[in-house]
Amino acid sequence: MNANEIRQKFLEFQVQRGHKVIAPAPLVLEGDPTTLFTGSGMQPLLPYLLGKKHPEGTRLCDSQPSMRLQDIEDVGDPRHTTVFEMLGNWSLGDYFKEEQIRGFFEFLTKEIGLDPSRIYVTCFIGNEEYGIPKDEEAANIWQKVFEEAGIEAKIVEIGSAKTGDKRGIKPGERIFFYDDHENWWSRGGGCDSTPIGDPCGPDSEVFYDFGAELQDEAKYGKAHPASDGARFMEIGNQVFMQYRRLEDGSFEELENKNVDFGGGLERIAAASIGSFDVFKISLMKPIIDKLEKISGKTYDNNTDEMRVIADHIRGAYLLAAEGLVPSNKTQGYAMRRLLRRAILRALDLGISSNFLAEIVPIVAENYAELPDSILTHREVALEVMLREENAFRKTLNKGLRELHKMAFSSHRSPLATDTKSHTTEHQDATNRDKNAVLTGQALFKLQDTYGFPMELSVEECFRQGIELTPNYREEFESALKEQRERSQTASKGMFKGGLEDHGEQTVKYHTATHLLLAALQKLISPDIIQKGSNTTAERLRFDFNLDHKMTDEEKKAVEDQVNEWIKADLPVVFDEYDKEYARDTLKAHGQFWDKYPDKLKVYTIGDFEKPVSREVCGGPHVEHTGTIGHFVIKKEESSSAGVRRIKAVLE
Ligand code: ALA
Repeated sequence: MNANEIRQKFLEFQVQRGHKVIAPAPLVLEGDPTTLFTGSGMQPLLPYLLGKKHPEGTRLCDSQPSMRLQDIEDVGDPRHTTVFEMLGNWSLGDYFKEEQIRGFFEFLTKEIGLDPSRIYVTCFIGNEEYGIPKDEEAANIWQKVFEEAGIEAKIVEIGSAKTGDKRGIKPGERIFFYDDHENWWSRGGGCDSTPIGDPCGPDSEVFYDFGAELQDEAKYGKAHPASDGARFMEIGNQVFMQYRRLEDGSFEELENKNVDFGGGLERIAAASIGSFDVFKISLMKPIIDKLEKISGKTYDNNTDEMRVIADHIRGAYLLAAEGLVPSNKTQGYAMRRLLRRAILRALDLGISSNFLAEIVPIVAENYAELPDSILTHREVALEVMLREENAFRKTLNKGLRELHKMAFSSHRSPLATDTKSHTTEHQDATNRDKNAVLTGQALFKLQDTYGFPMELSVEECFRQGIELTPNYREEFESALKEQRERSQTASKGMFKGGLEDHGEQTVKYHTATHLLLAALQKLISPDIIQKGSNTTAERLRFDFNLDHKMTDEEKKAVEDQVNEWIKADLPVVFDEYDKEYARDTLKAHGQFWDKYPDKLKVYTIGDFEKPVSREVCGGPHVEHTGTIGHFVIKKEESSSAGVRRIKAVLE
């Protein structure tokens, strides 16, 4: 069954069960400053999940285009996409766990025809600290449902995903209890980070088993549903919205309990064709086929690049068809970023002239069934995207021209990018004047001044037979470092990591410093700012404003919080943003806004939409907090009037 048929089937099936189909919301949700994009089907329904009466009744369904930019770095693997459709059904104080679980199981096995023995599920283990019980009700319903289908379904407690990686699963086991990192749903993540006032609750996730042979045990540990390995893929999530978080941090039961179901259309479609790779489904395959044709390369040998390009063009198309244009702010910036990343990855495939005109119509065709009410600008979408492609291509070509100028003593025929063919013709370096370049410093200049990425320069030099100095990478790095130092001195304190070196241990301390500041702001006072920081490979030293000596309890709480974030193995990502956007929209922490340049680097730790920490910073940082180690505060003392100093180590 193809994805369009599955979408149709899902809506029909829900209508038979008494649901009303509602129109999906646009990706850019008006009047919701809390997120850049609609990231799930429940987001536009938030007021109704909190008790407001919905005009269409208490049983609703839709297929909601969603965008999760926080997953951008994961795109390239077989299952992550920044943009996807979420099939959704909701009970607003109507049916609850039994009807939902039975309904979804029936949809998957009877309507889509999935083999029930390939379905595995997870439930919430409970949280003692908040007095939230284990969701035995859901697990027992699942057990009955599986038994009725003739499938043995033992219930097992796993706890954390890490435990699962070690333990794996045993024959007959099918229903697994996990902690709140896996099976608690709120817009902020686990129990601790559930936003005040938000509805939330235990969830029960449904996984498809693509086969034990797919699990890369050396990399991901043993297979179990919450593993990152390829054997199991989550295809749906049923959130039982039983609670709401109160001001004091505790959870109260909602009078009207809701069901919020979300299922990834692309993933269900992948399961239905037995492919663990979502890029093989009907919404993706034609794009990949075209990329193979344009580049003359195969998907099998260029999988990551083709996945990124296909995903990003899909995302950018939806935004363009909603009427967005690329810009340097907020959503427009995200759109620009998607397009530019796609164009750069296409260059990796040798596609050096415009190609969007050949891909976008395929994407548009795939999305023909999405309603006009959200895709209000379909006719101009291609044009908007082509304009950006042309503009970026000019930037790139300028960079290429400069590269050639630098490389050859005479400046004739700077660049021969054949605009008709798709790949840059190999040029015969022998008919050029004698070549010098190129040093790493020159490559740095190309990147810094013309936005021409180093890897492209290297590639181009290789193509053109231009020689690079043997240590061009080191030269590039040191030019980069010098420039950073210059900009630090130029605007005092700016990007001041206080780093003594960039060694592995120092970098861990640097990230721990960000977590420390975030913990102080969360637990002691939101007004705390950095007053000074110095990080070596042995310890961190951090100065901050506070009018009292920290109590032992405060120190312990801060220490525990930092360790909890470390254990949660949160992703650490960075990007460059316009200053205004970083300050006003991303709400990044920074102290020298008036001194910062117009573009700056921002590091985010945790969920992109609800980060644990977000700071203006030059880096570097670890990629995942899990690698940091155990954080211990050794000393808390006065540094100067109104300024306290923490010394901490990683053990
Ligand atoms: N809102 C739920 C999710 O995003 C269904 O997983």
